[in-house]
Amino acid sequence: MRLKRKDILTIEELSREEIEMILSTAESLREVSEREIKKVPTLRGRTVINLFYEASTRTRTSFEIAAKRMSADAVNISVSTSSVVKGETIKDTAKNLEAMRPDCIVVRHAAAGVPMMLAANLACSVINAGDGAHEHPSQALLDMLTVRGRLGALEGIKVAIIGDIAHSRVARSNIYGFTRMGANVVVAGPPTMMPPGIEALGCVVAPDVDTAIKGADVVMMLRIQLERQKDAFFPAAREYSRFYGLDEARVRLAKKGVVILHPGPINRGVEISSEVADGPYSLILDQVTNGVAVRMALFYLLLGAVREDAA
Ligand code: CP
Repeated sequence: MRLKRKDILTIEELSREEIEMILSTAESLREVSEREIKKVPTLRGRTVINLFYEASTRTRTSFEIAAKRMSADAVNISVSTSSVVKGETIKDTAKNLEAMRPDCIVVRHAAAGVPMMLAANLACSVINAGDGAHEHPSQALLDMLTVRGRLGALEGIKVAIIGDIAHSRVARSNIYGFTRMGANVVVAGPPTMMPPGIEALGCVVAPDVDTAIKGADVVMMLRIQLERQKDAFFPAAREYSRFYGLDEARVRLAKKGVVILHPGPINRGVEISSEVADGPYSLILDQVTNGVAVRMALFYLLLGAVREDAA
């Protein structure tokens, strides 16, 4: 079993069958992380480079752990101590890394489109680990895996995505992913953080947060992305929390047994209260655990065997 593509760049371009293949592969690989010896030999001799131009805790670490659990060699490039600080372009950096014959480069960059540009210029696989406010495909895959693990299916469920939709690559990838898998996605947030025309991605825009959450099977809270905001999009954290934050009263509007998600890092007390983030419906740490399984699956399906299109 393998993907008929060289790269993982967006959820938008993945078919339902491809998403299904990635999720079921991740489900079967999840048990590797529960073993005493957390390693399989599948990707022995393969090399993965993590090239992160933006900060990351969860994504970078889990791509590294995923590669190592599959027995691939994983190398992390620290941009602050690389020749990037001497002015080397990303294309030159990537070309030089490619000359060392990696099998895959995992890239995160503040500019939308960088992973696509690298994929077009490199023979090795490229995985998008987040490009600007565009997409974060492995995050959406781990979110879908987490929800499917708890609810059993994605078809027909209501997913409410709340917060800073405009600056969120997580929102964009999840709207594409959940709708492709047959879920109904509703978004809500401050009007200043709601991109015009977002409905074209397949979601519905709710008039307010309570309407979005009412009867939801899944509530996904988004982080306020202060690093991507050049202007003041909301008056104060306290105001944001009151109108758009998730507290226990709002959780009661959702369906019984609702799944609460957040991609992290959390602004506690702003978009989500600590009681909810640490409460019984929160699967926030399960998302992180599933992130390793999804990334193992991506490596396996891209690098684990000769691609059908290359055969
Ligand atoms: N969810 C996510 O992308 O987290 P990091 O920024 O820590 O990788």
